[in-house]
Amino acid sequence: MRKKIVAGNWKMNKNYNDGLSLFSEVLNMVKDEVRGEQIVVVCAPYIHLNSLSALAKDAKQVFVGAQNAHQEAAGAYTGEISSEMLSSVGVRYVILGHSERRQYFGENNALLAKKTDAVLQNNLKPIFCIGETLEERESGKYFEVIKSQIEEGVFHLSADDFSKLVLAYEPVWAIGTGVTASSEQAQEIHAFIRTEIAKKYGSDVAENTTILYGGSCNPKNAAELFAQKDIDGGLIGGASLKSRDFVDIVKTFN
Ligand code: G3H
Repeated sequence: MRKKIVAGNWKMNKNYNDGLSLFSEVLNMVKDEVRGEQIVVVCAPYIHLNSLSALAKDAKQVFVGAQNAHQEAAGAYTGEISSEMLSSVGVRYVILGHSERRQYFGENNALLAKKTDAVLQNNLKPIFCIGETLEERESGKYFEVIKSQIEEGVFHLSADDFSKLVLAYEPVWAIGTGVTASSEQAQEIHAFIRTEIAKKYGSDVAENTTILYGGSCNPKNAAELFAQKDIDGGLIGGASLKSRDFVDIVKTFN
């Protein structure tokens, strides 16, 4: 049975003390809420990761994630962080290919393929993001765009490595806009992604791949989205910055 995940992405928010308070609140509130195949991940800015990992040490189903990692193992890359460094402070997940990284930092599928390799080599799990812009949706090219994002970003992996991946479908037009994809729109894409995975790796791998939805997900719309057959949880931006909202989203699993 595939894992159900609610992952928060704090983006560039929360100073050190505020981040610690938020995470402590979340930990306290979710400890009796996650069970079975459910997992909660909090992807915080780098400065928080060491402390949050220490706080989460005994929380069996709550993990800490980063929002990016460099593709090289080490070297003269001022300002960058390697997967090995992340692993050394207890990080377990790394978001890769978020549309904000693609848009503002020029990350493309070829670079993301290398980052995916680096993350996996350090026994971390990528949360690999894909999704179309508004223009791509309106021009009807979105299936093509999503297909090339997965083909070029992660389909070079062996089936074994691919099985360690989490995918996140985040339509760019729904991120931070308050406009959520309808559950039908999201389910259509999730089913499409799962079919493409089945064609490449077989139906067992496809059935076991966790595919998250992201984009203006909140406590009101999460239950309907997560009830869709191919939606296995969410990647939550704005609503992950308030402990009550984030935990209410986690609770929709139950
Ligand atoms: O990584 C999270 C997504 O970008 C969604 O952000 O929930 O603020 O729309 P949002």
